[in-house]
Amino acid sequence: MASITVQPELLLERILSLEIVRVTERAAVSAALLRGHGKEKASDQAAVDAMRRELNKLPIDGTVVIGEGEMDEAPMLFIGEKVGNKNGPKVDIAVDPLEGTTLCAKNMPGAIATLAMADGGTLLHAPDCYMDKIAIGPGYPKGTIDLDAPPEENILNLAKAKGVKPSEITAILLDRPRHADIIAAVRKVGAAVSLISDGDVAGVIHCAEPKTGIDIYLGIGGAPEGVLSAAALRCIGGQMQTRLIIDTEELRERTLKMGIKDAKKKYEIEDMVRGDCLFAATGVTSGAMLAGVKFGKHVIETETVVMRSITGTVRRVIAEHRQFEKFHLD
Ligand code: FBP
Repeated sequence: MASITVQPELLLERILSLEIVRVTERAAVSAALLRGHGKEKASDQAAVDAMRRELNKLPIDGTVVIGEGEMDEAPMLFIGEKVGNKNGPKVDIAVDPLEGTTLCAKNMPGAIATLAMADGGTLLHAPDCYMDKIAIGPGYPKGTIDLDAPPEENILNLAKAKGVKPSEITAILLDRPRHADIIAAVRKVGAAVSLISDGDVAGVIHCAEPKTGIDIYLGIGGAPEGVLSAAALRCIGGQMQTRLIIDTEELRERTLKMGIKDAKKKYEIEDMVRGDCLFAATGVTSGAMLAGVKFGKHVIETETVVMRSITGTVRRVIAEHRQFEKFHLD
């Protein structure tokens, strides 16, 4: 049989793309045990513990660049924390062990456990602040959207590029009072608005999933979530522009310390994720993107989506877990 050679770095990258599934699976199962119990902090902590435990088993020399907060405010998976067993490549890791803590606490659709991984020094080190975002799926000419253009103009340009009437465009936004003007502007040109209560990593990804019927993401969400969703779009295609909202002196200083000199910079996907990356997310509660964790008597079922930007491959892994002790459920 002819031997097939894969470059060692690529082989490791391929292996890691499956290994990170274990990481988000374990985080999702740990959080899901507390679904619907109204305990935001406890379910987040459970996901953090599980994710950290699994990350530390990986053959990587990893640094958390998007995490649970700064070192003094987050005991685990803080920004700058080293993870992995050090026997591997230097990588940047962006984590959100429980994206949608309120969704999980209330057992509402759309909570996920998610992470992205890329070569060391290639992910944007964003502080835990707000970020203005706009995103669309793949297949449109560059420049179809512009973060600085009014929402009406973006909708009209997108409709033209899609070859449909503006009334056939659907925009997704976080349901927040701060978005009242954008919502009014979108509706004024006849487009539809789909509101989500939380979870804008999936909100952005929906733009690249035709089955969701979502065409464009608009509005302000978390900056960490922005970098994670940029990693997903880097894998599956699409356009995204963002800008950090640095509105206090304290935040300005923190941002400077993180190496961001131009606080008003408009980021493209390639500025937030400056090379190839991996992205994975496992459903905690069922949502449009992923099924939630199902606890059977003898089996736990999880659904994970894992993406590689090198090839643009998207895998959906439906896993049946039988050794419950591996999840620390004993
Ligand atoms: P958490 O999981 O940290 O609660 O984040 C949920 C979320 O909805 C994100 O998806 C989103 O980016 C952010 O909160 C929006 O922030 P806010 O709730 O302050 O508007």
